[in-house]
Amino acid sequence: MENASPPPLLSASPSWVYLLRDFLAMYRAIPAGGSATIRAHQRQVRERIGGVLRANPVLRETDAARKPVTAHLPRALDQGRKTPMSDVIRSIDGLKGELSWQYGYEKVPRGLDQKYAYTELVGPTGPVPSDQIILGLVLFAPDCVYPAHAHEGITESYICLSGAMSQNDQGVYVPGSMIFNPPGRTHRITVADLEPSLLAYAWLGAPEKLVSQRMVFTRKSRRGGA
Ligand SMILES: [Fe+2]
Repeated sequence: MENASPPPLLSASPSWVYLLRDFLAMYRAIPAGGSATIRAHQRQVRERIGGVLRANPVLRETDAARKPVTAHLPRALDQGRKTPMSDVIRSIDGLKGELSWQYGYEKVPRGLDQKYAYTELVGPTGPVPSDQIILGLVLFAPDCVYPAHAHEGITESYICLSGAMSQNDQGVYVPGSMIFNPPGRTHRITVADLEPSLLAYAWLGAPEKLVSQRMVFTRKSRRGGA
């Protein structure tokens, strides 16, 4: 990778445009299950992704970073390719060498450092800058237990892209399933014991909430201004 040229506009980075369009399509295709609240959330996610595409921001330079769990990424993508989530899996595959996988904790809970990482795609710290929405991916190794947490002021959805997982022991989610967490809801995630699980997430909230959420998850400044 050279540093010679300035970071390009989103529109000049087809892999990122395709990823955003595939996220948009995913939030259109996934059923709302009769829930007006979930339908409204899905619509708002689509509107904000559309806004990011129209704003056509300059991409932020981020350094690719791996974590131990990313050794499971090829398997998670392979498994995801066989599911209705294959379009978004393909666009993630096209960007996998650029993704910056993080823990988001100063001190990672014991054992979790081997089994978990997330990467922000769109948001206050992501390669695609936005203060209107955060989109990202979370990767869990088989048998991971992600401890209970809540997001104050943030409405969250997870979409399962690969593997099988559960939240708060309330049902099992497989590719194409969506979990909706209103602000402040505590949630704990468990993952099937033989396969990894890859989830997409979307966070909506006021801009100051989206930025401060980053501060909670990533206390150390990872890069200079943008
Ligand atoms: Fe969460």
